[in-house]
Amino acid sequence: MKKLIVGNWKLNPASLVEAENLTTNYSLPTTNSLEVALLPPFVFLEDLVKKFPQFKWGVQDFSLDESGEISLPILKSLGVGYVLVGHSDRRYPPAGGGETDEIVNAKLLAALEERFNVILAVGEREKGTESRVIESLKASTKGVKETDKARLVVAYEPVWAISTTPGAESDTPEHASAVIAELRKALDVRCLYGGSVNSANIAGFLSQPNVSGALVGGASLKAEEFSKILEIASQL
Ligand code: PGA
Repeated sequence: MKKLIVGNWKLNPASLVEAENLTTNYSLPTTNSLEVALLPPFVFLEDLVKKFPQFKWGVQDFSLDESGEISLPILKSLGVGYVLVGHSDRRYPPAGGGETDEIVNAKLLAALEERFNVILAVGEREKGTESRVIESLKASTKGVKETDKARLVVAYEPVWAISTTPGAESDTPEHASAVIAELRKALDVRCLYGGSVNSANIAGFLSQPNVSGALVGGASLKAEEFSKILEIASQL
């Protein structure tokens, strides 16, 4: 199975021209051993989906409510195939609106039902509280149909390792792999690692037998760095 590398752009870059330049400057390995999904800000999606079909495109969030901003039908009409749910940016302050596992679960089931590929992010806020991650995974994936599991990927992202968390440092491949082993006991789906991934540490994570890819934030905004990550991933 191909490795999945996801670039989470958050609210970057500031303009469509920069978004196009960033994408143009990524170089995709020729080996065809990777699936590369990019999650830009909503407003750039329509253009990017059309211009860069060599990448999979997705969103960082969507809404199930009438009062929301972006819905699954809108995304479908744009040709978007991937959705991220449960990212710590949505779950926790300062950015997040306190999204609970129950809300994440409702979004995840709705997106699977609509045939999207779903990336579910789970991760502990403080080191040493990993048991919470398993609970979160179970609650967030309640009711997932066996037949939908192939379209679900879990990204283990310890919040303390995400580069925007003050004092963040990446997890060790061994620790990430140990937590992922537990996650896979609870739900047998592909798992990614995320949190301060860069070209210097990606090989360590992807060399773990149960790590099927990476969720990359800050490093995906630098074309050269992200291209290096892709190149290294394609060779493992
Ligand atoms: P980071 O972000 O790679 O910059 O740590 C990961 C994420 O927030 O998904």
